[in-house]
Order: sequence, then C-alpha cells, then structure tokens
Amino acid sequence: MRTEARRGEWPGTAAILGAGTMGLGVAECFAAAGMAVRLTDATPELAREAREKLVARARGHAEAGLLPEEAVGRAEGVEVAEGVVEAVAGVDLVFEAVPESIGLKEEVLGVCSAGASPGAVIVSNTSSLPMDDLARFVEGPGRFCGMHWFNPPEWTPGVEVIPAGATDTRTVERLVGFLRSIGKRPAVVGSGPGFVANRIQNALFLEAVRCVEDGLASPEEVDEVVRSCFGFRLPFFGPFAIADMAGLDVYASVLGVLEDGLGERFRPPRMLLDLVEEGRTGTKAGAGFLNYTDEERERLLLERDRRYAALLELLDRLPPVGAGREEG
Ligand SMILES: NC(=O)c1ccc[n+]([C@@H]2O[C@H](COP(=O)([O-])OP(=O)(O)OC[C@H]3O[C@@H](n4cnc5c(N)ncnc54)[C@H](O)[C@@H]3O)[C@@H](O)[C@H]2O)c1
Repeated sequence: MRTEARRGEWPGTAAILGAGTMGLGVAECFAAAGMAVRLTDATPELAREAREKLVARARGHAEAGLLPEEAVGRAEGVEVAEGVVEAVAGVDLVFEAVPESIGLKEEVLGVCSAGASPGAVIVSNTSSLPMDDLARFVEGPGRFCGMHWFNPPEWTPGVEVIPAGATDTRTVERLVGFLRSIGKRPAVVGSGPGFVANRIQNALFLEAVRCVEDGLASPEEVDEVVRSCFGFRLPFFGPFAIADMAGLDVYASVLGVLEDGLGERFRPPRMLLDLVEEGRTGTKAGAGFLNYTDEERERLLLERDRRYAALLELLDRLPPVGAGREEG
C-alpha cells in the first residue's frame, strides 16, 4: 500500500458508499495515501462499526510491519457520514461498493449523483453489471465509470477501469492517473460479461473443477500445479508474452489435441492460426502477438530468468501458506 502523502493532487477527498469487504479495504488504501475519506453504510451504526474495523485493521497492518505508524493516524482520521447524501457532499471522488444488486445500485447511484457536486467523479466497483446500465442511474454520466478492484483491495495492484459509452475520456484519464499515483496498476477494459479479469479467472476455475471431476487430480494437486507450473510466471508475464516465448506453433498443435479430446471450447482461435500461417510464431521468429528485435528477445529472456530466480528465492524464504486441506 502506498503511503507517500499526496498533496494537492486530484482527488483529495473521497466518499466510500458501502463499507464491506471492498469498501473498507479501498478506504484504508485511500486514507493511507493521505486522502480525506468519508465512509457510509446501510445505517449510521454499521458505518461506525466499519470505521472501528478499519482502524483496527490499519493498526494490525502497522504492528505486522506492513504499514508505517502514521498510516494508523490517517485511518483514525476517516470520518463517518450518516448517509449517502452527507457522505458525498463536496467530495472529489465517490466510490460505490454496495452489494451486487442492480436495484440497490440504482437507488444509491441515483441519490449520490443528485447530491454530489457536478465536478465529482462517481465510480462503481461492480464485478459484473453492465456499465451502460449503471450509467443510466447517474445524472451527468460523463463523470461515471467502472473501477473494479480485487480482494484484498489494499494490497492487490491491478484495477480494471471500465468506461460506459457515456463516460468522458477526461474522466478515464483522471482515474488512470489517480490510480497510478497511489501505486495501483490500472488497465482500461471494455464492459463485456465479467470484464477481462473475471472472464479469464473463471475460465481457469471451470477447468480446474473439471480436472477434479474427471479424476485427474485432487483440489490440492490442482492448486499446486496452477501455482507452481504456469502460475509461477504470472507475476511477470501475461498469456500473450508467455505464448510468444513458448511458440505459437506449439500452442496451435497442443490446442488441436485438446479440441480433439475435450471439444469445441478448446478450438484454436482464428487469430492464433493466422499468426502461425504468417510465420509469426513468437520470440523465436522475432514476432508473435508482440514484436521482438534480436536484442530485445535476448534481454527479455535474461530478464525473465532473473525474475524467476528472485521469485524462487522469495518462495523458499516464506513459510508455506496453510490454504486448507481436503477432507478424508
Ligand atoms: N468481494 C469481492 O471480492 C469483490 C471484488 C471485486 C468487486 N466486488 C464488488 O464490490 C461491491 C461490494 O462487494 P463487497 O464484497 O464489498 O460486499 P459486502 O457485502 O462485503 O459490502 C457491501 C456493504 O454495503 C453495505 N450497504 C448495503 N446497502 C447499502 C446502502 N443502501 N448504502 C450504503 N451501504 C450499503 C452493506 O451493509 C455492506 O457493508 C459489489 O458490487 C461486488 O460485486 C466484490
């Protein structure tokens, strides 16, 4: 969590609507970055309890050496508002994180967009609702955007920024600049089902469950394979860079076998087959999904090895995480 105080940068003030799992973590993150934060929840009593939890959590993070002591003081400075109208009055940024119900989002976004100043940017943390549907609930939808954080929000760097059709470009630019300034790694993505992260994560999850159902491995073994085989690469490289390094011709052949055995969901996509036909088979050919000069390729492979060695060393130093044990 970044704790260098931001001075005079937009946004200086934020309202968090819904102080649950996500709202509370985002509040801690905003406060740690030196922003003035107001919290609200379904009732003033719940909002007060949430603030207590927030302070206790920041204290726990400081005691564990994860945050400097001053971050606790900043969490103590978070204010509780009696309701949505009081929370949003005069703030620069409104972060909506009420439960995933379109009716509830309609109610809360409607009240908050009527009460927030016209210059305030309003974002929703929805994981699945179409952004154009939510934008309809906001007065002045040019200032509305999706901003999808991941649990635990105070530590996970990635945030999907999801414009609706009506969102102003300036709103997107401001949000991306802000997220970078607090140490996050935003990506601007479209509003299709599951956006990008949940779509990919759920495809992985479905295949993991199917591997267990097909009797190939236990949940523990699947977790080990995912973490320690291809998952080991994921802090540094995404699927396109990984495929380029492996060879797209290899991927196309493997997918052919998977399609034969497991059906249409593994059919090699046209985009991949076109690249292979053009001879763009990845780093070894100087081009795949991405382009590489000889020098860039050598540097990439060396940097890859450096990072993998560093990660191995880190994993060896940390005790194993007790992620649970299968019954029986
Ligand atoms: N939990 C996750 O891992 C996760 C990850 C990314 C996005 N999201 C999304 O973030 C949003 C919030 O999810 P969550 O997991 O934090 O839910 P949560 O249930 O933990 O928190 C929601 C909070 O909103 C409060 N609330 C209910 N009605 C309210 C109202 N009218 N006004 C103000 N507050 C109200 C609830 O009391 C609760 O504290 C959802 O849209 C969810 O899809 C969740």
